Amino acid sequence: MRTIVLKVDPKNPEEEKIREAAKVIEAGGLVAFPTETVYGLGANALDLKAVLRIYEAKNRPPDNPVITHIASKEDAYRLAREVPSDAEKLMDAFWPGPLTLLLKKAKDIPRLGGLDEITIRMPANKIALALIAASKPIAAPSANLSGRPSPTTAEHVLQDLDGRIEMVLDGGPTAVGVESTILDMTKKPYRILRPGGVTLEDLRKIVKDVEVHPVAFAKVPTDLAKAPGMKYRHYAPRAPMILVEGRVEDIVRKIRELALKYGGQGIGIMATHETAGSYDIGIVKVVGSRSEPRSIAKNLFKILREFDQLGVRLIIAEGIEEEDIGLAISNRLRKAAGYNIVNASEGRADIDYSL
Ligand code: TXA
Ligand code: MG
Repeated sequence: MRTIVLKVDPKNPEEEKIREAAKVIEAGGLVAFPTETVYGLGANALDLKAVLRIYEAKNRPPDNPVITHIASKEDAYRLAREVPSDAEKLMDAFWPGPLTLLLKKAKDIPRLGGLDEITIRMPANKIALALIAASKPIAAPSANLSGRPSPTTAEHVLQDLDGRIEMVLDGGPTAVGVESTILDMTKKPYRILRPGGVTLEDLRKIVKDVEVHPVAFAKVPTDLAKAPGMKYRHYAPRAPMILVEGRVEDIVRKIRELALKYGGQGIGIMATHETAGSYDIGIVKVVGSRSEPRSIAKNLFKILREFDQLGVRLIIAEGIEEEDIGLAISNRLRKAAGYNIVNASEGRADIDYSL
């Protein structure tokens, strides 16, 4: 299959290009498109055969459900059995935007695996909104091969899916860089299942009863017994990765020590604007600034893919404070590292890697 790439103006999406993409969706095909978070791989959400093709193209495990993307709030009322008033408040405050609501599914809406729940989101991106408005609700996971870092440019999508999908709408780099926040609203307290672009602090300004589900911290594999160590990786670069957490000065000291221990050459170091000057070995890349953590979110997946392209042997990444968007960043870093986390301020024994 040849994958058609259409460059679309993100400020003023060309109608004929959107129509062309909508035709592909209508015919049961797959179109990757930008959202404000990451690129999504879209199919008609109401056509289960089309949705199955997403799983095939991505090599996605069949038990991992996808988010339904909508362009108007009314669609949420069609897709969900009921929309609690707190959900309405959150929709008013954050839609369009990087918040996904997990609600009970309406009876007449088909879902793979007969799931009783549905995750719904309205992305804040003109190309995404135009495509959805021209189609039906669109099912879309991130447009990467399963397990790989999420794509924040059309180029990243093609690295993984060229020849496997009908079309990519290239609307330039995405703004947020990490995925949407998933909030389970099926019971109280509401719980963040995946931290993302809308933070816990943001949500609590609108609705009081919000907590973070333990899985959202991603400190240990969700299923420890079945997935010890590096067996299952998510957002994963090709090289093994160590995440060093703790106080900033301890992080820097520990990374210098580790880089030296592993021989320096071919070691990628993911540093921040404030710390990059402290490393004199390894291939140092600046992911963003600690004083502006949203810049880190924006570049995180891109830097992981850049290290892949350089063919580094090992990636050592600096940990980031967990507050605000930092929780989403920490979640992605921990998973990308396959939970190889060293706390530089706790003086725990090192993990040893044979490279
Ligand atoms: O920002 C985003 O949310 C991006 C863009 C493309 O919209 N999408 C995205 O989709 O990140 P995906 O499939 O890569 O991640 C969706 C996550 C998965 O971890 C999935 O397990 C969870 O949402 N999920 C989806 N539907 C669910 C459901 N009904 N119950 C529990 N978890 C669900
Ligand atoms: Mg994904």
